Order: sequence, then structure tokens, then C-alpha cells
Amino acid sequence: MESKVAIIGGTGVYDLDFLAEKKTITVSTPYGAVSLQTGFYQGIGTAFLARHGQNHSVPPHQINYRANIWALKELGVQQILATAAVGSLRRDLPPGHLVLVDQFIDFTKQRPLTFFEGKNSPVVHTDLTEPYCPQLRRILLEAAPAGCQVQDGGVYVCTEGPRFETPAEISFYAQVGGDVVGMTGVPEVVLAREMGLCYAAIALVTNYGAGLSSQPLTHEEVVECQRANAENLRALLENALPRLKGKAGCQQCRKPDPML
Ligand code: HPA
Repeated sequence: MESKVAIIGGTGVYDLDFLAEKKTITVSTPYGAVSLQTGFYQGIGTAFLARHGQNHSVPPHQINYRANIWALKELGVQQILATAAVGSLRRDLPPGHLVLVDQFIDFTKQRPLTFFEGKNSPVVHTDLTEPYCPQLRRILLEAAPAGCQVQDGGVYVCTEGPRFETPAEISFYAQVGGDVVGMTGVPEVVLAREMGLCYAAIALVTNYGAGLSSQPLTHEEVVECQRANAENLRALLENALPRLKGKAGCQQCRKPDPML
């Protein structure tokens, strides 16, 4: 299928019911097989991948990020819109806000981080001065539905998970410049750039980071907030997709040369 745009769904986003002619397919990659859906929205070929699996069965540190990004590249995808549930590191960034992140800080510990390793691979040091595609971010900002609280830019701190953070860690991440914290943004964004794909992340704040609210943090709280904001997210994606029609990936993200 000549799908050009992909949506990677994070926690609470397991299906795109607005896609027509939906098919479930399996793509083989050197890292394993990937099951995903393909379909069309207003004539735009769209692939959908549930990052945690259809029933949230894959924890953040065990997601096969390399297989996922490889599979999307294989399908001809040039642009990826990824959703992610995040905790807020700032009291002035409450649950329900969307953040179009523009930077990340990586605190993951034990994930495969690159396509460029192994006997026959060159050593590649990828430039991440602008890790998230500025063109996609601009389109998402313009596509935000009325009444949707969207912050343009923000620093995403990625932790290893699957546990939530301690209040001491949340305080530390805020002090080093983070705005939101999640467990899945890295290495996904890095691998997309290694493949020369445009990638933008829509981070939905589902909770305050541990210790910022008086209540203990639960996964149910995250899922509940995600559910409450599902309509906003869906409207944003539905508005954004037609704006991508006919747009190829941008020059900046296309470097370096992918799939060596
Ligand atoms: N921490 C890490 N990941 C998350 C959080 C959080 O508070 N909320 C949603 N994903």
C-alpha cells in the first residue's frame, strides 16, 4: 500500500476508527515482524501502529522501536505523527494540555538506540539539533481544534519506565529543563531521523508528575484522562492529515541517507 503518513498511537490510542478501507497487515523487518493497520482518510494513505499493542500488552522498555520504524519506512511512509501520554513537570501545565514537543532529554538506560551498529554498519552520529520536524509541528499547531489547549514547544524527558518516577526524580527533571515526562519518545524519534523520516510528537498531559499532586499516581488516572481528551486528539489528527496531502517529507529530516 502506498501509505505516506503514519500515526503511532500511544497509551489509550489503539485504533483509528476514521480510517476507511482498513486492513491489518504484517511487515517483516530485520528486527522482527510488525502488525499494523493501513487505510485511507480523505484519500490519504495512512498507516496506524499501536505502540503498546492493541491491548496495551507491551511495556515501554520492551517496545520493538527499530522494527516499528523500519516497517513504516518499508511501507513508504515519509511523515509520522506520534501520540504520547505524559506527566507534567510544571504546575502551570495541567492535565488536558497538548504539547508539541520540540526537544528531548534521554534518561533511558537499556534500549537499542540506533540502526547503525553491527559488523557491516558504519558508525553514524546523527544530528539532532532539531529532533522533531518543524514542518509537521507547524501543521499540527494550525490543525489544533478550537478550545484545545496546545503548547507550541516543550522539552520531553524520557525515562526507562515501566515504573513511574519518584518525586525526587520529578523535581530533578524539572530543574534540568524538562516540561513533560514519558517513557516512549526515545529512541522512536531518533530512529525516525536515522531513517530520514519527518516525525512529530503530540504529548497529551494526563497527570502531574509524582509529588506535584497530593494523590499517588495510577495508570488508571492516565488512561482516564486520555479517554476524556480522545475527541480533541482525534480532531487534531483529522484536521492535520488533509494538510499533509501531497507534501513530501522535508529536506531537513531526509538527512542523513536512510536504510544503508
Ligand atoms: N511519567 C512517565 N510516563 C507517563 C506519565 C508520568 O507521569 N504519565 C503518562 N506517562
